[in-house]
Amino acid sequence: MDDRVIIRFDHVTKQYDDDLPVLDDVSFEMERGKFYTLLGPSGCGKTTILRLIAGFIEPTKGDIYFHGKRMNNVPANKRQVNTVFQDYALFPHLNVFENVAFGLRIKKVPKVDIEQKVKEALRFVNLEGYEQRAIHEMSGGQRQRVAIARAIVNEPDVLLLDEPLSALDLKLRTEMQYELRELQRRLGITFIFVTHDQEEALAMSDEIFVLNKGKIEQRGTPKDIYDEPVNRFVADFIGESNIITGTMIDDFVVEFANQRFTCIDRGFTNNEQVDIVIRPEDLELTTVERGKLRVRVDSVLFRGVHYELCCYDAYGNEWLVHSTKKAEIGEEIGLHFEPEAIHVMKRNGGE
Ligand SMILES: Nc1ncnc2c1ncn2[C@@H]1O[C@H](COP(=O)(O)OP(=O)(O)OP(=O)(O)O)[C@@H](O)[C@H]1O
Ligand SMILES: [Mg+2]
Repeated sequence: MDDRVIIRFDHVTKQYDDDLPVLDDVSFEMERGKFYTLLGPSGCGKTTILRLIAGFIEPTKGDIYFHGKRMNNVPANKRQVNTVFQDYALFPHLNVFENVAFGLRIKKVPKVDIEQKVKEALRFVNLEGYEQRAIHEMSGGQRQRVAIARAIVNEPDVLLLDEPLSALDLKLRTEMQYELRELQRRLGITFIFVTHDQEEALAMSDEIFVLNKGKIEQRGTPKDIYDEPVNRFVADFIGESNIITGTMIDDFVVEFANQRFTCIDRGFTNNEQVDIVIRPEDLELTTVERGKLRVRVDSVLFRGVHYELCCYDAYGNEWLVHSTKKAEIGEEIGLHFEPEAIHVMKRNGGE
């Protein structure tokens, strides 16, 4: 048993009544001290995984281990886990200090220790001096930090965060992303963060789990997931992309848009049907003569840092291009790209 592993799911299924499982035979390990993100569309099972870890619900099948010990039926309050809920669930009638102290009072921690632990937790989230404030006198971002202080005061091994930033405006949200990431580094504990915002996931995580319909489609570093999506679902979910169908002719040779291209992928069967991803920023505008693909510009949008061009090739494939160069609507242009820009994926994964 690898002692870096803190949580292990072994063939875990969760099913309500006779419905389809909301979590379907899921196995994974998570290590101590890392920042994990569960990413996926609404209803894919993100909160279900957190609730299983926290002990609020039990698996229908399979086992959950903490530090190698089986946890099924160990009650929530006996697990070294704390949760920060989306709505923060703070007590409106208690001040900041008492909100953070609440769990310690229940556990009958001696008064002097409570005093010291709460102070320390509030210092961690930069809320020193706010002890006596009422909750309704705190901003959204500050409430968020009170909720985090209340969770970390118990010194959990794992902190679960269920879309904690979704109520905040974009600017505050970006600030809190930095703060959370920084806090995780300082505390050195495992964070499991839930979001359906792919940019947030890419910016914050050591590792991302991409979920779809109760299954893990892919897990990996943000770079792995962005650069090497395993299927159409992941590619589509993780960012704007050109995804078209193609055929793997041979190792390093792929055909799409009625042409053959050199790529860096191999290990497919000859003539296997595949999906191809090329990111909009990997397509370069050039002349028809110098391009690998010939397309006609259908629309142009100015996006601030770049232009977004929507183009079509002669076979009806749509090509989204992000470029600092501009082209005119109706113009015929060439698109250039490197072999590394072509990502070949197995067909049939996801949907
Ligand atoms: N107590 C329950 N009884 C029946 N079905 C449930 C129950 N709790 C959750 N579900 C179903 O399980 C599925 C997964 O729910 P879950 O809350 O894990 O989704 P999620 O990924 O967190 O979605 P969101 O992004 O909307 O929060 C959903 O289809 C939901 O309707
Ligand atoms: Mg949820």
